[in-house]
Amino acid sequence: MSSDAPLVLGIETSCDETGVGIVRGETLLADEIASSVDEHARFGGVVPEVASRAHLEAMVPTIERACRTAGVGLRDLDAVAVTSGPGLAGALMVGVASAKALALSLGVPLYGVNHLASHVAVDIVEHGPLPEPTLALLVSGGHSSLLLVPDVTHDVRSLGSTIDDAAGEAFDKVARVLGMPFPGGPHIDRAARSGEVALDFPRGLTTGRDMQRYRFDFSFSGLKTAVSRWVAAREASGEPVPVADVAASFQEAVVDVLTRKAVLACREHGVGHLQIGGGVAANSRLRAMAAERCAAAGVELRVPRPGLCTDNGAMVAALGAQMVLRGRTASDLSLPADSSLPVTVVQS
Ligand code: KG4
Ligand code: ZN
Repeated sequence: MSSDAPLVLGIETSCDETGVGIVRGETLLADEIASSVDEHARFGGVVPEVASRAHLEAMVPTIERACRTAGVGLRDLDAVAVTSGPGLAGALMVGVASAKALALSLGVPLYGVNHLASHVAVDIVEHGPLPEPTLALLVSGGHSSLLLVPDVTHDVRSLGSTIDDAAGEAFDKVARVLGMPFPGGPHIDRAARSGEVALDFPRGLTTGRDMQRYRFDFSFSGLKTAVSRWVAAREASGEPVPVADVAASFQEAVVDVLTRKAVLACREHGVGHLQIGGGVAANSRLRAMAAERCAAAGVELRVPRPGLCTDNGAMVAALGAQMVLRGRTASDLSLPADSSLPVTVVQS
């Protein structure tokens, strides 16, 4: 894209990552992250107040680092984009307030964007323009959604979502049962590589009436309970828990359901492209099974590299740049942080 394409800085603070990305048009120039994940590990989950304070401390240095990496100054920016929701209220507020201050002082437009749409848009800087429509499977610590995306800047439709735990939440909870640190997804992924899929754990909402009624919805809470019970029974028997086998079997159940429903949604909606995003998209088995099943169904699969799947600022900058390129109206400076912003509201 030419050098007169819009230069956009994106800020992400919805959870525990302070992300600042800089994109020119559809080209990624910088993606800097300061994570407070280590500060939460001993609590077994993200502590909102700790996250907010860490965002506050990391914001200015992370913006400065992003500008240095991109080789641009703040005065070169054409727009500022920020995650306005969904996420932790206090954490979002730090990002939104910072973005407002930047936009106001630089005299450039501000775009408050949806975190989930940003997870979809980030693939533009990796694999080029999104096919329209795209089907997106978003799987993170807070969300599991199947989305039909005719236009990522203003038309995102929900086909289904989890009715209980998010996929990443299930990974984190099962990891805890297996004695692994938080966040557990990467640890299960690693342990599963040396394990066998030896245990038959339940696949929620995939058969009979459940499948009819909850066609594109997910449920992982029954699976998590089944794994916990199996491990508890094993421990009670005095036999060692085969951690790698449990990890592999649990992971297989999650990945089987996610890919099965995603490919079915592509088929039933006549969509030839599937994009996977969110932290769980970093999972190696999910990537492999999605590739196999998409190839068999004649669906083109797009998955950003793992570093762009977990929360980052590049995804916000990528969506902000699309907003500018497509001439969307900027957000008002009174823009609120909305912790429960619906997935269908791309911009606030
Ligand atoms: O998108 P993300 O960084 O933050 C949220 O918006 O939630 O996703 C974090 C989630 C965590 O639950 C983490 O355990 C999971 O993504 N995750 C993984 C892997 N890497 C991160 N889950 C399974 N396998 C992985 N390799
Ligand atoms: Zn996320």
